[in-house]
Amino acid sequence: METKPVTLSVIKADVGSLVGHVQAHPDMLTVVKEHLARATEDQLLADYHVANVGDDIELIMTHYRGSDSEKIHGLAWDAFMAAAEVARRLKLYAAGQDLLSDAFSGNVKGMGPGVAEITFNERPSEPVVVFMADKTDPGAWNLPLYKMFADPFTTIGLVIDPKMHDGFIFEVHDLVEHKKVTFSLPEELYDLLVFIGSPGRYCIKRVYSKKNGELAAATSTQRLNQIAGRYVGKDDPVCIVRCQNGLPAVGEVLEAFAEPHLVAGWMRGSHYGPLLPVAEADSRPTRFDGPARVVALGFQLCNGRLVGPVDFFADKGFDRAREKALELADYLRRLGPFEPHRLALDHLEYTTLPLVAEKLKGRFQPIE
Ligand code: F6R
Ligand code: MG
Ligand code: MG
Repeated sequence: METKPVTLSVIKADVGSLVGHVQAHPDMLTVVKEHLARATEDQLLADYHVANVGDDIELIMTHYRGSDSEKIHGLAWDAFMAAAEVARRLKLYAAGQDLLSDAFSGNVKGMGPGVAEITFNERPSEPVVVFMADKTDPGAWNLPLYKMFADPFTTIGLVIDPKMHDGFIFEVHDLVEHKKVTFSLPEELYDLLVFIGSPGRYCIKRVYSKKNGELAAATSTQRLNQIAGRYVGKDDPVCIVRCQNGLPAVGEVLEAFAEPHLVAGWMRGSHYGPLLPVAEADSRPTRFDGPARVVALGFQLCNGRLVGPVDFFADKGFDRAREKALELADYLRRLGPFEPHRLALDHLEYTTLPLVAEKLKGRFQPIE
């Protein structure tokens, strides 16, 4: 049995899909699994699980090489390259999309794929939830993470569990200025909300327990458009949350998705729509390239092994959230190209809209 800290790495990419931007092809998943199975035989990985949410492939991996390991990131890169090759062979749509470079440079951050990693000492029992979203961006986690770790109406443990009563530390990243800031909750609740209420710019990156300093949650915050300088698809984020025994219970963590909130993404990454909680098998965004979806897979870690998953949002308990989300989607769709369904102009700067605006520039005359 390993006594070293274990690392849970979730690395995802969209490297092509069937049909249009809807789902990864089964042959792509097969080659990715072969890569990870070999790496497990070679003891590079302790265990792995491959998920497919919409057009994204998520590699859920455990190992003892720490966060930002060149070997683990290199493995993910090679697996995605192999899947992109399958996509090219089948002439699938947007083959190789998220692999922004031809050569791996030591870490997949900044190269296209999204990454969330947590390194920790495995507790006597270690329940974790891996959230994976399609057709949206990293800001989609702000409201649910706030609810899980700061809102007593969602997480009653904040009130009645002495292990949680001190609160949590939130690390927030400014994705425009590339700066970070931490807030200690509950004291700095209002300060935190100044920023995370603007999820297009400020994203919660990590959450720590104040009681024991444990890292409880981590998200991917990569912004494809800012890396590539142009629209190459949405950033379709992932998020890891450790649960129970001084951290929010699994049910408190999932409750944060019972009221569907509006996120940026959906068709051409240019619209607001509700985040629809679904089972992995239902994560096929067919309507207006949406609605944006979130899947939650739960695992118990057992000496680095991933026992599970449980596909949480398959539960009927989320039927009403889905109905509400679909109703909201109907309403917003009727607004068509008008804000607030369409994103505000400054959020569309990386899409193809400025090209159209540029063409019409000469038509404008000064107003007398
Ligand atoms: C969403 C997404 C799609 C595309 C849309 C147009 O993340 O990638 O909504 O933006 O399908 O794609 P193109 O321009 O390739 O036809
Ligand atoms: Mg795609
Ligand atoms: Mg996607």
